[in-house]
Amino acid sequence: MPEQLLEVANVTAGYAQDIDVLRDVSLAVYGGHVSGLIGLNGAGKSTLVKTICGLLAPKSGDVRFLGESIAGIAPHRLIDHGICCIPQESSLFPYLSVEENLLLPLQGRAHTFGASIDARYAEVLEIFPALREKRRSAAGDLSGGQQKQLEFAKAWLQKPKLCLVDEPSIGLSPLLAEEVFAWIERFAKSGMGILLVDHNVRRVVRMSDRIYVLSLGRITASGTKADFEGDLHEQVRGWLGIDF
Ligand SMILES: Nc1ncnc2c1ncn2[C@@H]1O[C@H](COP(=O)(O)OP(=O)(O)OP(=O)(O)O)[C@@H](O)[C@H]1O
Ligand SMILES: [Mg+2]
Repeated sequence: MPEQLLEVANVTAGYAQDIDVLRDVSLAVYGGHVSGLIGLNGAGKSTLVKTICGLLAPKSGDVRFLGESIAGIAPHRLIDHGICCIPQESSLFPYLSVEENLLLPLQGRAHTFGASIDARYAEVLEIFPALREKRRSAAGDLSGGQQKQLEFAKAWLQKPKLCLVDEPSIGLSPLLAEEVFAWIERFAKSGMGILLVDHNVRRVVRMSDRIYVLSLGRITASGTKADFEGDLHEQVRGWLGIDF
């Protein structure tokens, strides 16, 4: 039985005091598994990711990592718990070099990453060869696809237990998008738990161990890949207005 890493328990959250964007949301992510989150634009998917990452504090409910509450955790502390977030917007510093972007999160964390950093850095440049050539270039000068590589390389370097990935394929060509999904599969194969949000519903369903549908801030369906390819297929097609 895989280890439960993340538990979102009955979370209600929002940006304004009297407007709840998320209502009573519960979901789980397990080690080595992909949990997929799908829903229409504005459903609250990124808001959920932001709530897990400490950018928003839940109004009620709890976010637990390995059984301990991390609700309202300072986002820069996530790395110390083994949690990494690849947000929908860029997390890169455009004026810093590729190398600086990769190594910055590890600075001052020698006690956690210590001697393994050099070997891991070499490995990252092997997995993402385009970054080797560009390692002295400013991150902001990279193409969209290369910037996405840099985001994933930065995450891999941190070897998190849990990685939250919000809309990784947005704006990428189908070929590059496939590369991104392959990296996610590689991450999960290594034992990492993944929460994946993407508008490519078919792809999310295909690669997720468990899928959650978020509609107007509520989880309206959840199940396994088999459920979504079987009984839930028609229902979800109706809700999302798309075929998958
Ligand atoms: N910073 C903010 N302040 C106030 N409201 C916000 C903020 N960010 C998002 N919202 C609102 O919260 C709701 C959910 O937005 P969210 O970005 O979480 O949706 P989403 O499911 O990620 O959509 P998309 O598929 O377009 O990325 C929307 O109504 C949005 O307008
Ligand atoms: Mg979003």
